[in-house]
Amino acid sequence: MSEQQTPGAGERMEPSIIPVEAYISEEYVHRERDNLWRKVWLQAGRVEDIPEVGNYITYDILDDSVLIVRSGPDEIRAHANVCTHRGRRLVDTPAGCRNAKGKQHKFVCGFHGWSFNPDGKCAFILAKEEWQDTLTDERTQLAKVNVDTWGGFIWINLDPNCEPLRDYLEPAASMLDPFQLENMRYKWRKFVEFDCNWKVALEAFDETYHIMATHPEFMAFGAHKGWAKAQGKHSNIGYDAPEGEEENQGKLRLGAGGDPRVATAEMQKFIRETVNAVTTDTLIDAAERLVDELPETATPGEVLKYWHERARGLDAERGVFWPEVPSDHVARSGTAWQLFPNAQIGHAVNNALCYTARPSGYNPNKCIFEVAALELFPAGQEPATEWVRGEPCAEDFGPVINQDFSNMAAVQAGMRNGLYRGNIPNPKAEGAVISLHRNLAKYMGSGQPEKID
Ligand code: FES
Ligand SMILES: [Fe+2]
Repeated sequence: MSEQQTPGAGERMEPSIIPVEAYISEEYVHRERDNLWRKVWLQAGRVEDIPEVGNYITYDILDDSVLIVRSGPDEIRAHANVCTHRGRRLVDTPAGCRNAKGKQHKFVCGFHGWSFNPDGKCAFILAKEEWQDTLTDERTQLAKVNVDTWGGFIWINLDPNCEPLRDYLEPAASMLDPFQLENMRYKWRKFVEFDCNWKVALEAFDETYHIMATHPEFMAFGAHKGWAKAQGKHSNIGYDAPEGEEENQGKLRLGAGGDPRVATAEMQKFIRETVNAVTTDTLIDAAERLVDELPETATPGEVLKYWHERARGLDAERGVFWPEVPSDHVARSGTAWQLFPNAQIGHAVNNALCYTARPSGYNPNKCIFEVAALELFPAGQEPATEWVRGEPCAEDFGPVINQDFSNMAAVQAGMRNGLYRGNIPNPKAEGAVISLHRNLAKYMGSGQPEKID
């Protein structure tokens, strides 16, 4: 489905040039802390990371560290992860870990032993009377951080005056709600430090234009031409419909080739072997049945419909229920949403592939990149997963994502070249890059993409 035909489509991007300052300037990174990271909603974890009262995780971004705690069966709170006495970080992140995690009913500071309840109230102060009644609850409680949940994710905002999460996430939240991301669970999750700016890392995944050169094997399965739309602060991307078909099934694509029954199974198996996400064992199981269960004369449209319904039925038999999403909504939602500023959700009815990126210190040439594969599992059969630190290599992330990795440091190096004139993204397929910088410029006061003609 083309952009013009899509009802309620977002805005088309114009040919633009993006200055490199946002990618390479140290001064810009410092301003990002104040103007961006301390102002926006950030995806800090998943609700299932803290299932029981007292469970906590931390989330660090530049100088700021946040302690996120399940303070009640239906309540999550977030606090600045700093002791109110003399400023010791309250909960340390173990070396090499993405974040601290555990279960505590009291958070005890290692310096002088002040302790805090999950709701942030200070519960113990040694020799409190020596402060002569000046240590009020207000003065000693942990600083509050805004926290909310959507899509099964925990979001935080360091700005006390921030807009509500739901308002911030629209229209992405309403478009993605029918996919019921909150019912999915981690299949695996990894993080890695890259030698590139966080925007370079995200932008390697928010467009389909790179597929031909970076992932040439995928060309055997179809053209993979795509679109992007600005959606307020956010954006979404999708694939153009193959000729004569409607692109209405999100990530669940037919393989292209002589016999769609065979090509679909081959493509799904290839994706499992090389990405270990985006497809599921059930989708592959159903795809492998196509040759036996459908006649040779089945059209691509019939194959697609049968494959999905077969997989839906097989999953239902094991207690995994896909949401019913109208096909026009699937078409409009595309294949992935870029949630400003630093998260991407590649959604489908039974799985999601999610990325986030954030700075690693104040070096504009470094970032922390996270990949989480989510899936629907039968209740009680969710795998136990942890954030695993990886290296940017095929052994840790599979050959396809590693192909993306292979460009990142080289892009960062190239943009530092004094003779580089700035990014000129494809306005149709790489519009998410333009959208990101248009919105960044509003927070940062510089870096606005300029229209070219
Ligand atoms: S700094 Fe935490 S108790 Fe003193
Ligand atoms: Fe890629």
